[in-house]
Amino acid sequence: MVSDKDLLDIQGDIWPGLPKEFETFYLFQIKKDKVSDFKSKLKAMADDHTITSAKDAQSKRQAKKDKKDPGVGINIAFSSKGMDELGWGRGTLKRGETLKDRSWDVGMKTDMLDQGRDDAQDWTTPDGIHGVFLICGSKAQVEEGVKLIESRLKDAITHLDSMTGNVRPGDCRGYEHFGFKDTISQPAMDDFPNSKPEDSLPYKCAPGRIIVNRAGMMGTDHRTRLWEPEWATNGSYFVLRKMKQLVKEFHEYSKKEAKSVGMTPEELEARFVGRWKSGAPLEKYPKEDPGPGHSGNNWMYEPWNKEVKCPFASHIRKCNPRNTNPNAPTSDESLIMRRGIPYGPECGENADAERGLLFGCYQSSIMNGFMLIQNRWIYNDAFPAAKAGQDAIAGQDIKGAATEEDKMLSINLYGPDGNEKKSLRFPSFVKIRGGEYFFTPPISFFDKF
Ligand code: HEM
Repeated sequence: MVSDKDLLDIQGDIWPGLPKEFETFYLFQIKKDKVSDFKSKLKAMADDHTITSAKDAQSKRQAKKDKKDPGVGINIAFSSKGMDELGWGRGTLKRGETLKDRSWDVGMKTDMLDQGRDDAQDWTTPDGIHGVFLICGSKAQVEEGVKLIESRLKDAITHLDSMTGNVRPGDCRGYEHFGFKDTISQPAMDDFPNSKPEDSLPYKCAPGRIIVNRAGMMGTDHRTRLWEPEWATNGSYFVLRKMKQLVKEFHEYSKKEAKSVGMTPEELEARFVGRWKSGAPLEKYPKEDPGPGHSGNNWMYEPWNKEVKCPFASHIRKCNPRNTNPNAPTSDESLIMRRGIPYGPECGENADAERGLLFGCYQSSIMNGFMLIQNRWIYNDAFPAAKAGQDAIAGQDIKGAATEEDKMLSINLYGPDGNEKKSLRFPSFVKIRGGEYFFTPPISFFDKF
């Protein structure tokens, strides 16, 4: 079992997750002439537990369960530019001592905008981000947390931008803006206590898939050249991605097109996601939504090579094919720990306002985690089988296609009774507003300052 020493070293949003009603991602740059000032102030914030460890986060989650106030939770992560600035990049450290992930090194803009399907027109994230503070709690606590960071780090940083999200209110709590129950399926890491076994995948996840240099990192329990340098042990790569959801367009499209494939709009939308709105999986309930209380996660795709119950292109099957991936049946290789939060007003308040998901996820390798899922699975018409289509929730229009029609994505659909297969073309329902790749270091890293 993971030791208390490690739990005091791992930042709490990686595991078990910081309790949050609101969350601000505070993007900053370290001032050129204030690097040592920044380092000493940040070390003080780690020493007095302003930076929330996994151990502290466990207590906060327990407080929340006991209906007590968990207080604010704060974590910090750095882009590769930020690590360079701190003197922990290639310019300063020897070969083998720097972080190895290529995606993190080049940054999200290169990976997803220059070389991927993100559109420059939609991107709003500023250049030159060095780091991000994650500040979680109630609305007032998050506002106080921001003030605290600004007062403690005073002139050592420049604020570049902030993104704030909140858990949706009332009956929508736990649901994302398209109306589906979210954050059901999470990997349960071996050696870590599991508070929600009902939401864990039916197979184990080596902790090294999420947390750097722990057992299972790059598929082995022993240090290899693919492991990260010693100082990075207990850290994790963090992906932040602001995804605008075209909620009105999503529902209008389903209303218009469902008939053409012999379905109701609810049946069609459930096939886009792979779960009904209640969270019940199509794989277990292909005919109708059994309602709340059936969102369990202890199942596999049966048979693994058919898509009659749940389309290959449904969001959950694309992002985690479970046993559908013939190359790696029941593999934990590309599991990610998701930590997203919705942003923007409720749909009833202003249908045309911007809303979406501040998608966040942790993994020990972005190349094997987020980047692989997005570029090689979500966008890939041939994954996991020829003409499988693309993910309707996280897919984006085909960049550079000659006509509007050619930009469209596709999904294969069978009716609720497994009747004839039809293929449906659809436009993307998300726009990427930006984001960045970060490394969330272990808390012991700040002692090295
Ligand atoms: C606006 C964007 C997105 C929305 C609205 C969304 C929504 C959802 C919903 C409703 C579920 C099912 C509930 C659950 O299992 O927790 C889900 C699952 C999941 N999503 Fe997303 N998602 C989005 C973006 C992404 C992205 C960008 C990725 C990764 C690249 C991703 C990866 C996953 C994974 C791995 C699962 C769990 C699948 C499983 O284990 O069965 N999602 N998402």
